[in-house]
Amino acid sequence: MLMADENEILVRTNQGTPGGEWMRRYWQPVALSEELPENGAPLAAKMLGEDLVLFRSESGAVGLLGRRCAHRGADLSLGRLEDGGLRCLYHGWLYGVDGRCLEQPAEPEGSDFKNKIRHRSYPCKELGGIIFTYMGPGEAPVFPLYEPLIAPENHRYAYKVLHECNYLQAHEGEIDPAHLSYLHRRTNQPAWRQRAIKGSDGVQPMAMYRKDAAPRIEVEETDFGVRVYSIRRADDEKIYLRLTNSIFPNVSTIIGPMAGDGYDINWHVPIDDYNHWKYVVIFRRSGPLEARDWKNIHSLRPEMTPNYRLVRNAANNYLQDRESMKNGNFSGLGTNNLPQDAAMVQSPGAIQNRDEEHLGTTDKAIIANRRAFLKAIKQVEAGGEAPHVIRDPAKARVPEIAVISEIVGGSEDWRSYWKKIKRIDDEGYSSAHH
Ligand code: FES
Ligand SMILES: [Fe+2]
Repeated sequence: MLMADENEILVRTNQGTPGGEWMRRYWQPVALSEELPENGAPLAAKMLGEDLVLFRSESGAVGLLGRRCAHRGADLSLGRLEDGGLRCLYHGWLYGVDGRCLEQPAEPEGSDFKNKIRHRSYPCKELGGIIFTYMGPGEAPVFPLYEPLIAPENHRYAYKVLHECNYLQAHEGEIDPAHLSYLHRRTNQPAWRQRAIKGSDGVQPMAMYRKDAAPRIEVEETDFGVRVYSIRRADDEKIYLRLTNSIFPNVSTIIGPMAGDGYDINWHVPIDDYNHWKYVVIFRRSGPLEARDWKNIHSLRPEMTPNYRLVRNAANNYLQDRESMKNGNFSGLGTNNLPQDAAMVQSPGAIQNRDEEHLGTTDKAIIANRRAFLKAIKQVEAGGEAPHVIRDPAKARVPEIAVISEIVGGSEDWRSYWKKIKRIDDEGYSSAHH
C-alpha cells in the first residue's frame, strides 16, 4: 500500500509538479523516426502534459516547439515547412528549430519585434529509430547509450503503443517477474515462438515460469535505479536466473523474446497523467533480426491500428475469448504478450488507487522502485542533481545495465553474474559469436 499523498507525487508529471520536474531531467522519447519522415508533415505531440509540435526542417534538423503559435495561438502542426523552419498559417510567422522567430512578414520592414520572441523549444536527438528530447532546465545531460539504441539498424526494431493509464502502472508491470507465471501462460505456443534459454539444452523460459510459479524476488538499489532478480528452481542443482532493470525515471529492460541474445528496452512516457506511450526497442545482440524475430514482430500487427492504438481495449472487454481459456490460453487475451500486459495495467483505471492495494512477497521490486523514485524526486526538489543524470561522456555506455535470462548453477553468485554478460560494443564480442 502507498499513502495517497505519495501516490500523487509519483503519478503527477505536469510542469511544476515534483514528479514532472524530476522526469524532465532526462532524455525522453517524443516520437518514432518513422513518424517524421523527410518532407513529412509536422507532428502534433503531447508529452508530460505539454502540447508540442515536432517537425523536420528542409535541411533535416528536428525541432520540437510549443504547439500554439506565440503570436495568437494558432496550431503550428497545421503550419508549412519552408524557408528553413516551420511557418504558422495564420499570419506567416516563421520559427527555427531552436524556437527563434525568423520572420514576421506582416510587421513593418525593419521591425525588430521578432527578436523579442523566443518560443518554447526543446532540443532533440535521434537514435535507434526514436526521436528523443530533453525538456528540463539547464544544459541537457549526456545521452545514455543503452545497448538496444546503439545496435546496428538491422539488429533492432522500434515501435510504440498507446496506453490509456498513468505511466507508473505500466512501468510497475515491467518489473513484476511474478506475473510471467500467470498472465502470459500458454500451453499451445506455436513452435516459432518457442525459444530456448541460453546455455540450456532447449529449455524454454515459459517452461521455467510454469515450473516455479512463486519465484524468489531480490532487489538491489543502484545509481541508475533498481536491479530486479527473479530466481526460479530449474532442478535440484540449478536455478533459472532473470535480471530486469528499472532505470530512472521511466525506463525498463526486460528479457523479451530474444531470451538472452538481446532484450527489450521500454520507456513509459506520460502524455498526461491519464495516458502514456510505451516505446519499445527490441534487439538481437549477436546478429541481424532473424525470420522468426520478424514473425514475432509482425504478430503484433493485427493487435494495433496504424496510429499505434491497441485493438483490444476496455470498451470491447479486450476481446477476451473464454473458449480459448479452456484450450491452453490462460488469459483469453490473444497470443501476444503486449495487449495482455496493457489490459492488466489499464484495468485498475487511469490512475490506480494505491492505498487500496495489498502488496505481497513478490511485490518487493515494486516497493523498492517506488522508494527509489520518491527519493529521486525529493533529491531534485531539494535542488540536487537527479540520479542517473550523466554529465561525463565517458560514462555514456552504462555497462552496469545488463539483462539476464539463464540457467546457472545453484552456487553461482547471482548478484554479480551480470558482470559476465557481454554487450554489443564489447571488444571481441562479434568475433566470439559468429
Ligand atoms: S497566430 Fe501564428 S502568425 Fe499569427
Ligand atoms: Fe508481461
